[in-house]
Amino acid sequence: MQHSGPVNASSEAARQPWVVGISGASGTPYAAAVINGLLDAGEAVDLVVSKSARLTILDETGLAWRDAHWREDLAVLLGRDISSADVAIWAHGDFAAGPSSGSYPAKGMVVVPASTAAVAGIAMGLSKDLLQRSADVTMKERRPLVVCVRETPLTTSTLEHMLTLDRAGAVVLPCNPAFYHGPTQMQQLVDFVAGKVLDVVGVTHDLFTRWEGRLGAARA
Ligand SMILES: Cc1cc2nc3c(=O)[nH]c(=O)nc-3n(C[C@H](O)[C@H](O)[C@H](O)COP(=O)(O)O)c2cc1C
Repeated sequence: MQHSGPVNASSEAARQPWVVGISGASGTPYAAAVINGLLDAGEAVDLVVSKSARLTILDETGLAWRDAHWREDLAVLLGRDISSADVAIWAHGDFAAGPSSGSYPAKGMVVVPASTAAVAGIAMGLSKDLLQRSADVTMKERRPLVVCVRETPLTTSTLEHMLTLDRAGAVVLPCNPAFYHGPTQMQQLVDFVAGKVLDVVGVTHDLFTRWEGRLGAARA
């Protein structure tokens, strides 16, 4: 497919999006929650969906992702209407896409969920598709890169790739929800992880209740 974004040339100059890469790991709801959180905060999003992610999106949501109808499909995934200024999408094989270049005014990138293949590819600088190339560009430009790895257990090589990413300045943020905020619904677990992502990139949100310390703990 030809790249389809950004489509609104007049707003392009002012637009400084976060690139969100969805790779083929389990965790479509995490991606949706991060994108919704960015949009709720008034941030623009450039989306890159890897080829393999179509399978996970299909398995986890029943949604057959169609590049030609991405806006409708994304609206279903996010549960909201989206404008061309809010979200642009780039084809996974489009190395002429904006996020493929350091001169593109992206604020940074979140890979959510990140497959171990994506973790390896980014750590080794493979740039085998636009998602990996965008992450590589984000690191070389010293912009924030959050890699939300989703696999368990982890192999030695994935652990080494995660260490490589950390040393290169990326934040490795495993899709590990916590339970101390008393979640009773799956969305609360999803939102916890999405909120941690937004914390890292400095985007305001109210996706979870913050721990403020237990009364008496300071006296113990
Ligand atoms: C239903 C499904 C679930 C998967 N879940 C994971 C996962 O949680 N973590 C992972 O690393 N790979 C997972 N995979 C395998 C990746 O999709 C596969 O390694 C793929 O090559 C990743 O490519 P990408 O990084 O270009 O998206 C899953 C595959 C399928 C079909």
